[in-house]
Amino acid sequence: MITYYSEPLVVERAKDLCLYDTEGREYLDFFGGILTVIAGHCNDRITEAMVEQARTLQHVSTLFPTIPQVELAEKLAAITPGRLQKSFFTNSGTEANETAILMARAYTGRHEVVALRHAYSGRSTLAMSLTANYAWRVGGSGLSGVAHAHNAYCYRCPFEKTYPDCNLICARDIEEMIRTATSGQLAAFIAEPIQGVGGFLTPPREYFSIVAEIIRKYGGVFISDEVQTGFGRTGGKWFGIEHWGVQPDIITAAKGLANGAPIGATIATPEIADSLKGLTISTFGGNAVSTRTAKATIDYIESENLVENARIVGEYLRDRLEGLQDKHSMIGEVRGMGLMQGMELVRDRKTKEPAVEETKRLMDLARNNGLIIGKGGLYSNVLRISPALTCRRSDVDNAIGLLDRSFSQLR
Ligand SMILES: Cc1ncc(COP(=O)(O)O)c(C=O)c1O
Repeated sequence: MITYYSEPLVVERAKDLCLYDTEGREYLDFFGGILTVIAGHCNDRITEAMVEQARTLQHVSTLFPTIPQVELAEKLAAITPGRLQKSFFTNSGTEANETAILMARAYTGRHEVVALRHAYSGRSTLAMSLTANYAWRVGGSGLSGVAHAHNAYCYRCPFEKTYPDCNLICARDIEEMIRTATSGQLAAFIAEPIQGVGGFLTPPREYFSIVAEIIRKYGGVFISDEVQTGFGRTGGKWFGIEHWGVQPDIITAAKGLANGAPIGATIATPEIADSLKGLTISTFGGNAVSTRTAKATIDYIESENLVENARIVGEYLRDRLEGLQDKHSMIGEVRGMGLMQGMELVRDRKTKEPAVEETKRLMDLARNNGLIIGKGGLYSNVLRISPALTCRRSDVDNAIGLLDRSFSQLR
């Protein structure tokens, strides 16, 4: 295992936005166990549903439909965009993505997949092959039939252009990539609307509509990996892809879906879902406790209007982070949407040399000051800030104060 910090933090208990270590020290949690605790730690209503289900029925496998499973599938069909109507449940984001690629291959009868550079898709061999960050492709994984296109990393544009004069060359380049690096016969394209592990890389608003048109021209289905961006995280919409005006054919979800209970979901159009024929099961997939917890999580997000809260408090967070950027020259860029905000740290704003060691030290300083945030990016120099959607302005004020102090101590 890898763990954060020079000395691992052993967490004993948690409530709402607070973590407590084994010595009883309190931390403000602005990472939520990697964007997973979306409705606050040990949320009372969600926990009640979970416990009640644990007393009623825990497990029968996907060989038996259960009421929690069906109710969750119906809820997902209602909140996902377009004609995404059928769900298959697994245990993780990795499996959700595996299932999506499997379905796309069954539906198209083709094999080749296009993914994006800087992507993170999980830790199976296929998911690591879709992943495009060398540090996360352990064991030399690299299956055939996967090609990687340019993403929109405007801060470090691979074409050294500037938006909008660039005319979205990164998106348009995908056509040449398909023609040169694949057979032109695509099964699928898979992408995160905002790349999470990649460092909260947020594309310009036209990027995905240009890409989707090219992908569909070559017969691929569009898979939106919403493992990090799902369920209101990006503010104002249930799913990240909805901001970009593209209708996906498949959505994959995990992390925030059940507020920390293990689950993965692949939600597809009926014709894609039904194309997968033959024997397939997931022993723990659709587990009654996980699916009931997931439904309770979505209900909670809905009843507390958290998708909108993520937009409003997210804008406030963004504003305050930009205030920090004015004060601390190490913050090269602030980017993201809603309650998914990142800060790329550089040694020099002109050369943009990644501040790798400084990011590590800042993580330790923030922890010592009582604030938990995440880290990411190809160079491990991006701070990932993503509290539960229950976050209030006063929590943001507290976090900004702790971050400000940490940056000042870094000098
Ligand atoms: C965008 C994305 N997809 C897939 C995964 C894999 O999910 P899991 O770790 O649940 O297998 C992750 C995990 O971080 C992720 O961020």
